[in-house]
Amino acid sequence: MLAAIRSASVIGIDALDVTVEVDVVPGLPSWTIVGLASNAVKEARERVSAALANSGFDVPSRRVTVNLSPADVRKDGTSFDLPIALALLAATGAIDAATIQGLVVAGELGLDGSIRPIRGTLSLACAAARAKATLLIPQANVAEAMLAGSRGIAAAVTLGALVAELRAGGPALVDWDTARRTDDSTCADTPDFADVVGQAAAKRALEIAAAGGHNVLMMGPPGTGKTMLARRLSGILPSLTEEELLEVVAIHSVGGLVIPGTIPSRTPPFRAPHHTISLAGLIGGGPGPRPGEVSLAHRGVLFLDELLELPRHVLDAMRQPLEDGRVVIARAAHAVAFPARFQLIAAANPCKCGHAASNDGRCQCSAADIERYRSRLSGPLADRIDLHVHVGTVEIASLGSAPNEEPSTAIRKRVAAARERQRARYANLPGVRTNADIAGRWLLANGCVSGDAHAEIADAARKLGMSARGFHRALRVARTIADLDGETGVGRSAMAEALHYRGLAMARGS
Ligand SMILES: Nc1ncnc2c1ncn2[C@@H]1O[C@H](COP(=O)(O)OP(=O)(O)OP(=O)(O)O)[C@@H](O)[C@H]1O
Ligand SMILES: [Mg+2]
Repeated sequence: MLAAIRSASVIGIDALDVTVEVDVVPGLPSWTIVGLASNAVKEARERVSAALANSGFDVPSRRVTVNLSPADVRKDGTSFDLPIALALLAATGAIDAATIQGLVVAGELGLDGSIRPIRGTLSLACAAARAKATLLIPQANVAEAMLAGSRGIAAAVTLGALVAELRAGGPALVDWDTARRTDDSTCADTPDFADVVGQAAAKRALEIAAAGGHNVLMMGPPGTGKTMLARRLSGILPSLTEEELLEVVAIHSVGGLVIPGTIPSRTPPFRAPHHTISLAGLIGGGPGPRPGEVSLAHRGVLFLDELLELPRHVLDAMRQPLEDGRVVIARAAHAVAFPARFQLIAAANPCKCGHAASNDGRCQCSAADIERYRSRLSGPLADRIDLHVHVGTVEIASLGSAPNEEPSTAIRKRVAAARERQRARYANLPGVRTNADIAGRWLLANGCVSGDAHAEIADAARKLGMSARGFHRALRVARTIADLDGETGVGRSAMAEALHYRGLAMARGS
């Protein structure tokens, strides 16, 4: 007998409808899975057979054919276990086929019949909500699925209990009113800016970066607090909005970062991969393909420590996502796009020994060595970094004194106020949240820049030999500085400060 059930395949972060058909006919006992299934899907046979047997159901000693339709879409992962098992039970008459009709089903099976979490639940939930279907998923994925906003979610814990519910009329829907959907608490163990002594210029640059979503490169000798500063950025960033949270969780779910059973947090992502990361690790790839660090940092921070230690081809691969806010991973048969609108925070030493900029005679590197080391950061990538800041040595004496540095909570308040001004200004512009997203042309056309300031930036751009991109990026940073100061227009001082951060890049000759 033939039975069919709806499921979905997640490609990139989009869910595509898949129908799972199971046909059980008399013949020699055998299992065939067709429909462009990966090895993980083909292994479903072993898990489904064992789960059925261990849950007390008959495993048919007949010919079983499983077809995943449409056959030209690649199916990957373990989420087809549960729909295959239910369709098989319907095909053998163990459950009524009508009870599985209105459901979209996904879940991995354990050999003991337990129903285990899967990746990409939020994408499935959004697709099921659009189709107005009831989504039947593992219990551990429910909190994530609820973000999609649909009340048609049913949770499954074991195959045995689920079949009992289906025989009794259908699975119970999740109690929407009592379930908590998001975690609004800020991460208590985020370190505080108050721990960092001095480094006022770097702190200011990070505050501007947090307020406007800009990219930063901190350069300086070893042990001056660059890594310390970057790790404190999360503590001053505003929480994710509802819409941003959906985007972030969808990517993290596909990347396997959402911990099953936990409530998704509104803290922006902070990704800090080691500098030995591969190209696929940074940009995305592998079977699936899976999102890379640039996508896992979407709507948050990608911190690249020891930036100049990364291979140049890996660094340069970031140029496209830094410009477009997305990466497209092309395969022979298809291309997958992942969002990648992240903020790049980088730290580096100015040369191999680290003391080139100190001017204290400690640097042992030759001019050619320094040049070679710095040329690892290509001009086009340096051009995409808005704030270049020098992090100098700290006075040892100041470390001993009682710390009197501004805490992260105070900085966070100013950042939140500046973000609110941006939100109000760009309310009618779809896709624009921060100054980093706005076109420089729009800023010039909408009277945000005073005549004086415009003349100043045009003059500086000419003298520094700035690119058109550099000009627009400096304009956006100046807009953020004005937002932090509560100014409606961009004045000369905001412009001068923005140009200073870009001027440092020019001075380095990068
Ligand atoms: N400005 C500072 N205030 C307080 N402590 C500091 C400061 N700078 C450095 N330290 C101390 O030095 C340690 C190392 O700092 P950090 O790792 O941030 O240096 P870095 O600039 O990243 O060095 P490298 O270039 O070698 O990576 C910190 O854990 C802290 O104990
Ligand atoms: Mg460091």
